[in-house]
Formats: sequence, C-alpha cells, structure tokens
Amino acid sequence: MVTTGIVSLDDSGNYFIPQALKPGLKELNQAFFFPVMATLTEKVKICFRNDGPKGYTYGEMPAEVVDLLEKKIPDCDIALEQILDPVMELRKGPICTILDLGCGGGNLSRALSRRFTDAVIYAVDYNTTAIKRATENPNYPNVNNIQFLCLDAKALPSEWTNMFDWVILYDVLHDLSGHVKAMDEVRRVLKEDGIVSLNDPDLHSNVRDNIGDTDVAGVGYAISTVICLPSSMSDGEQSGHGMGWGTENKEEFLTNAGWVVTDKRKVGSHLALNFTCVKKE
Ligand SMILES: C[S@@+](CC[C@H](N)C(=O)[O-])C[C@H]1O[C@@H](n2cnc3c(N)ncnc32)[C@H](O)[C@@H]1O
Repeated sequence: MVTTGIVSLDDSGNYFIPQALKPGLKELNQAFFFPVMATLTEKVKICFRNDGPKGYTYGEMPAEVVDLLEKKIPDCDIALEQILDPVMELRKGPICTILDLGCGGGNLSRALSRRFTDAVIYAVDYNTTAIKRATENPNYPNVNNIQFLCLDAKALPSEWTNMFDWVILYDVLHDLSGHVKAMDEVRRVLKEDGIVSLNDPDLHSNVRDNIGDTDVAGVGYAISTVICLPSSMSDGEQSGHGMGWGTENKEEFLTNAGWVVTDKRKVGSHLALNFTCVKKE
C-alpha cells in the first residue's frame, strides 16, 4: 500500500494516510478496513501463484471482516428507506415476503424486520460466521419475522420458486462467484411481479474513467483487491469482478440476463449506486 501511494511512509518510518485520500475514507467511513486488509494481503499473494487458488470465499477470510461489514452502513434504517423509495414507486400490492441475499451479520435484515413487521423475511449468507453473528446478535431474540439461513445464492431451496415480493442484494452482486447462476436463482425465487434491489459500488467499468478519483483508488480498488475480487473468483471457474466490474458493465449484464433496470440512484455513500430491477416480460 505504501508503494502504490494508498499509505504513505515518512522519513522516521511512520505510516500515515495521505491527506488526499482522507475525504473519501472519512465519507465512506471505511478506514477501519485497513488493519484487516493488511492480513488479507498475504492470502492474495498466494492467489497469484500458478499453483495457488484463484480466490477465496468470505468464509475463508478472518471473522473480523463480518464485524467490519456490520459497521459499513452508518444507518441501516435510512439506507433501507432509500432503497425502498423506488420499489414503492413501482409496487402496487403490499410487500409480504422479502429475501435479503448475502445478508452478512444481518444489520439490514434487522432494519427490514423493524420496517416490515408483518412480512416474512429470509436472510441468507453462505458464510457460517456471518449467520452465527446474525443469530447471536443481542437484538435477534426480539425479532420474530426473520429466518437467518446459511445458503449459497447459487442454490436456493427448490420450494422458494415464485416466493418473494422483494429480493435485496446489498453490496453483494460484485462479490458473487457464479453471478450468472446466482441471478438465475434470484429470477426463480422472485414472483413474476417481484422487484429486485441491487446496491453496488459505483465505479466506472473503464479504468480510464476512474483516473484521478482518489476515493475509487484509495478505497474501492484497495478493498476490492483483498476482499471483493478474491470472493468473486473463489469458485475458480469464471473471471473475477469485484468493484472493478463497474456500473456500465454490470448494467449490461443485468439487461442481457433478462432484467429491466427501472431506476438507478445513489444510495448510502457517494460510491454506491442502487439498481431497481424487474423481470423482462
Ligand atoms: C460486502 S458483504 C455485504 C453484507 C451485507 N449485505 C451488508 O451490506 O452489510 C457481501 C456478502 O455477500 C455474501 N456472499 C458472497 N457470495 C455469496 C454467495 N454465493 N451466497 C451467499 N452469500 C454470499 C458474503 O458472505 C458477504 O456477507
């Protein structure tokens, strides 16, 4: 990180964050990722070996990653209202069944449960540590309408076909290995008039368009290199995405995969864009 300018080193050997990166780190509230990123650097190095793995799953990362991600959304109730606005503009009936896919430690799922007290909510993650954190959360016993389940997005239960009014992938799409299969599963479990919200980092797909954007370089690409990109490559079969996938190519993927993007808006931080999608008829 020193050699790439993400962290600076002074003549006395002290490490510090360069001034130019501070606004991005402060606004994204994500400087807390840096200590754990250092440990993940060792894992990434192994992936560069010819005989090494292509990536690693969230379950192979230190448990602190789950805890750090829980701090990432400053206010989940506000974030939820922001992703809900474009859904309510489309939705005619009530929202009774919700899937929070890639729920992590469950911060957004608990906000869903507060907002939709009568809904049936499933919150799913393939990382056992994340689901353990979610079910051990002190607020979980007071919640009676969420089921946390340890499942892979690529293989959701067969009985969930046409079950959900709303499926949410909050900061998940770019992390998925096997994103095609996972989005096929989302299509299967979503009702015909259901809605999908995909909140994802808003970087340009063309690296040149990101030049000069210190937030993208200092936070987006840095975090992606050790967390998102290895996760998206973890099944070893497809090329990786991570945050480098970019908004333009992600939208093209969604459109080609049979989704109509009905709305795009900034949600949460200035680095995150929320796609609201329905099934193409
Ligand atoms: C960046 S985190 C976002 C967590 C949470 N939605 C949030 O915003 O705080 C991405 C999450 O997706 C989960 N994930 C990645 N691939 C998955 C898969 N194939 N099936 C289920 N969960 C997956 C990871 O375990 C991780 O918890």
